[in-house]
Amino acid sequence: MRFEAAPPARPRRLAIVEGGESAGEAPDAFALAVRSGLRSRPKTLPCRYFYDDQGSRLFEQICDLPEYYLTRTEDAILGEHADAMVAGWLADPVMVELGSGSSSKTRRLIEAALRAYGALHYVPIDVSKTILEESAEGLVRAYPDLRVTGFAANYRDALAGVVERFDRPKLFVFLGSSLGNYEADEAVDLLSLLASSMDPADRLLLGTDLDKDPAALEAAYDDARGVTARFNLNILERINRELGGRFDLGRFEHRARYRADLRRVEMHLVSREAQEVAIPGAGLTTRFDEGESIHTENSHKYTPEMLRSLADRSGFEEEAAWLDRRGLFRLQRWRLRSSRP
Ligand code: TRP
Repeated sequence: MRFEAAPPARPRRLAIVEGGESAGEAPDAFALAVRSGLRSRPKTLPCRYFYDDQGSRLFEQICDLPEYYLTRTEDAILGEHADAMVAGWLADPVMVELGSGSSSKTRRLIEAALRAYGALHYVPIDVSKTILEESAEGLVRAYPDLRVTGFAANYRDALAGVVERFDRPKLFVFLGSSLGNYEADEAVDLLSLLASSMDPADRLLLGTDLDKDPAALEAAYDDARGVTARFNLNILERINRELGGRFDLGRFEHRARYRADLRRVEMHLVSREAQEVAIPGAGLTTRFDEGESIHTENSHKYTPEMLRSLADRSGFEEEAAWLDRRGLFRLQRWRLRSSRP
């Protein structure tokens, strides 16, 4: 894998490392994923493709919605406990964030680390290079004692690059219940990959949504203003933009349903009528029955027991946990399990 540093026309405390299209994913990965997803039954589309620049911006809007309690609640927990979350090292650990987006919640942790250690090297990882650059520039401007090295890449490639470049203790940060967007086995794979990238002095801070009343869950993923609908439909727009697809967005409907049996909210795009859609860039014409859906995303909800079992299955143990007063959301700090297999 190759990582190329972008040209240095920016402040010295800021670097962006690119390992995405050029080194990680093949250029036709999106076309192949769309082709195989729309040929499977039921039809699916992989949710990581939500987060192009437009999708990332829509997601920022989701985070501000009244129904979307997750961001606000996680932020409140961070506001109250950030000092404890970053404590425990003799000198500043490198703070590595997976899926940083605009890094707004992370400011709580950055400020706490700056208070505790006087300096910090923050390493955000995100697939959207534009969002990464914008947020990194804002951060170095706001904090004179902060260095930022962003990785515009998928997690796997970026983690390899991070481990190669930084041998100081690290605090890995994975917020927003993004873990819940993986199936249980994939979540264990990702966490195990993280564990294998970590040393005993490293920690993982993980933010996860807790299981709760289905009505509150469904509202969080189907807001009154329709922002989540636009976010979900953006994946069809992206297919139109990048693969010459002929999706008519008006002929699909966003649907979010809580599945108590699977403890997850499922997001679908439902065809309002029987139709055929050509996607030349994926070498495919796909037909839909009326009411047929494309399954685009899952958001798993957890109990504290499930989270401890996830830790155990992926080589971690829980060191500390923090909840909001209403018990909606949970942050936990994990270390490598002392008796590792
Ligand atoms: N990690 C977020 C979550 O599961 C992602 C998300 C929020 C999302 N809203 C969404 C994904 C709507 C797809 C559709 O809450």
